[in-house]
Amino acid sequence: MAKTITVIPGDGIGPEVTSATLRILNAAGADLEYDEQVAGIAGLEALRTPLPEVTLESIRRNGVCLKGPLTTPVGAGFRSINVAIRKAFDLYANVRPALSMTDDGRYRDIDLVLIRENTEGLYVGVEHYIGLEGDPKAAAESVMIITRFGAERIVRYAFEYAKANGRKKVTLAHKANILKYTQGLFLDVGREVAEEYAGEIDFEDRIIDATAMQLVTDPYDFDVLVMENMFGDILSDLMAGLVGGLGLAPAGNIGRDEAMFEAVHGSAPDIANKGVANPTSLTLSAAMMLEHIGQEAAGRRIRDALRETLAEPENRTRDLGGTQGTDAFTDLVIRKLK
Ligand code: NAI
Ligand code: MG
Repeated sequence: MAKTITVIPGDGIGPEVTSATLRILNAAGADLEYDEQVAGIAGLEALRTPLPEVTLESIRRNGVCLKGPLTTPVGAGFRSINVAIRKAFDLYANVRPALSMTDDGRYRDIDLVLIRENTEGLYVGVEHYIGLEGDPKAAAESVMIITRFGAERIVRYAFEYAKANGRKKVTLAHKANILKYTQGLFLDVGREVAEEYAGEIDFEDRIIDATAMQLVTDPYDFDVLVMENMFGDILSDLMAGLVGGLGLAPAGNIGRDEAMFEAVHGSAPDIANKGVANPTSLTLSAAMMLEHIGQEAAGRRIRDALRETLAEPENRTRDLGGTQGTDAFTDLVIRKLK
């Protein structure tokens, strides 16, 4: 029976890269039905709210969502809907693979996965100003929150991911030398969980700043990485840079009962409706989604076709130095599907 997924085309280039991705999914034989919903600016225009209840209900019902980028207004206006969706479903694991798709980038054959804690750390939003001597903004303070529960479930997720995907090693990156309590707890819990996998999956811990350097000097020394929220935010972009940038970077946000797959880039208003957007990031996210729902073969077909297409510089879209538009690139990918 076909699996029904929620599809949110999104704002800006969202509808263009989403329709390209759905064409590739269909051509690859993915067994899917699409329950299309709106959010973001499109939600505001159609239903007068950036996060309609029907959209949330649809995700709850289907358990899986493929989401195009959503515009977040700067300054005034609504808060990030991407963050709101992650919160609504407690999508605690942000899974960010960095996989080489071409042979002419800075590095070849990179195949890393970063598992970022998505709900705690410095991003819980416990922040305030402290007034002093008439200056209401004399200081500012924000609180990093790490819980045993949150640390344990993300490290366990990383090990289970490693097991399920035939990976050998989990590296926990931290700053426990300076942040002895918060990062110390994250590291302690990580070591406890790692013991349960001893003999099966290797474990090591590294200091976050050294990890950043070592990712650049010898990325092949890593396999699966796990870390708290802000460290993961920063290093996942660094890792996207290792394989050619955000246009090629997919992401999954995984919770206990729901999962949302999205492109890492934003809605790119500068190139919206011009037919030039690169759909690869969202299409790779859709391939991750297929693996998540047990349609691995179709996911592999899509990844192989993308890699074969991108191998020829003349097949690429403008952001990668090529000349192809979104539709022409999509046609090329579909032709390469085996
Ligand atoms: P952006 O990622 O949308 O664009 C940055 C640059 O990359 C632009 O020059 C754009 O043209 C280019 N670019 C991005 N995706 C591309 C693609 N698929 N093909 C070709 N070129 C591409 O980042 P920006 O401009 O900072 O944000 C625009 C909007 O997107 C903002 O409202 C932001 O809040 C939102 N955003 C949403 C995200 C999400 O839905 N997960 C993530 C990041 C930003
Ligand atoms: Mg980020």
